[in-house]
Amino acid sequence: MSVVILGIETSCDETSASVVIDGTQIKSNLISSQIDIHRKFGGVVPEVASRKHLEIINRVIREALDEAGVTFADLDAVGVTYGPGLVGALLVGVAAAKAIAFGLDIPLVGVNHLEGHIYANLLAEPDPGLPLICLVVSGGHTDLVLMHGPGAYELLGATRDDAAGEAFDKVARVLGLGYPGGPLIDKLAECGDQQAITLPRSYLEEGSLDFSFSGLKTAAINYLHRAEQKGEEVNRADLAAGFRRAVVDVLVDKTLLATQNHGTQTLLLAGGVAANKLLREEFTKRAKQEGLRLIYPPPVLCTDNAAMIACVAYCKYRRGDFAPLTLNAVPNLPLGKEKY
Ligand code: KG4
Ligand code: ZN
Repeated sequence: MSVVILGIETSCDETSASVVIDGTQIKSNLISSQIDIHRKFGGVVPEVASRKHLEIINRVIREALDEAGVTFADLDAVGVTYGPGLVGALLVGVAAAKAIAFGLDIPLVGVNHLEGHIYANLLAEPDPGLPLICLVVSGGHTDLVLMHGPGAYELLGATRDDAAGEAFDKVARVLGLGYPGGPLIDKLAECGDQQAITLPRSYLEEGSLDFSFSGLKTAAINYLHRAEQKGEEVNRADLAAGFRRAVVDVLVDKTLLATQNHGTQTLLLAGGVAANKLLREEFTKRAKQEGLRLIYPPPVLCTDNAAMIACVAYCKYRRGDFAPLTLNAVPNLPLGKEKY
C-alpha cells in the first residue's frame, strides 16, 4: 500500500502545498510566491507575509490535491514546516495542518525547514549513501551539516553574520537589481568578468568551518559607492561576477575541507543558493577531481517548496514520529534537536 502525504510549507514568503507518494513521487507541488508583493519593500515584510499566507493557504491545498488527483480521504498523513522561519508565517501552515489532521484523524508530522531542504535531494536520490556532508545555503542559513542518518545531524559550521543568500540579496539591492537578488546577480554575473574586480574572501581561523560574508558584502558595496563618489562608471556585471566568485570559492573550499575531515563520499547541496549556476559548476568540477558523489536538486526544489517537506514527513511517518495536535511554530528550531 502506498503512503500519500500532504506537505505544507509557509515559513517565509512562499505558500506551498504538495502531494507526495511514498516519499519520492511528487504528484503536485504548488508554490504561490509573494515575491511581487514584497519586492516593493526590498525584502520580506513578516506581517504582510502571514496575512497573504492566510488568504491563500486553503486554495493552494485544494489545488495541490486536485492536481494530484486525490481527495482529503486519500491522505495518510499531513506534514508541515514548524520552524525555523517567521513565526506569523509558520503559524498559518501549522494551523492548517493541525485542522486537517484533526478533521481526518490522520497523523500530523512536524518538519524542520532545513531538514526539508536537505531532503529535497532525496526525492530523486533516496539512497545517497551515509554519512554525508550537506551544505545548506539559503536566505537565512549557511550551514555545513554532517548527516549520520535520518534525524541525526551534526552542525560542523555556520555563518557568523550574514547568510550567503542574504549577502546576495543585499548586494543586489545596492546594484539596483531588485529582490530576491540571488538569481539576478547570478544572471548578471554571466555577462561579467569574474577576475576584473577582486573582492576579499573570509576564511576565518585556520581549519574553521564557519562562514562570514558581511566583510565581502561591505567590500562590494563600498567598491560601488567609492566609484560613484568619484563619478566613475562601474561595470555592474563585473562586480556581480567578482562577488559571486568570492562567495562560491569560500563555500566550495570549506565544504571540501569538511568532506576531507570526515572522510565522507557523498556531498549534497541544499537551499535557494544551491540553484546558483557557478556554485553548481564549481562543485561539479571539484567533486569529480576528488572522486565524490555530488547530488543537488533541480532549481525548483532548491527554493522553498512543500514537496521537500512531504518527503521528510514520509520518513518520519515510517518511523512513527508524529506530532501532537498542540504542535506550535518554533521560529529558531535547531536542526536535529527537535522535540515536540
Ligand atoms: O531556500 P530559500 O528559498 O529560502 C530560505 O529558506 O531562505 O532561499 C532563498 C535565497 C534568497 O536569498 C535568494 O536570493 C537565494 O536563495 N537564491 C540564489 C539563487 N536563487 C535563489 N542565490 C544565488 N544564486 C541563485 N541562482
Ligand atoms: Zn528555505
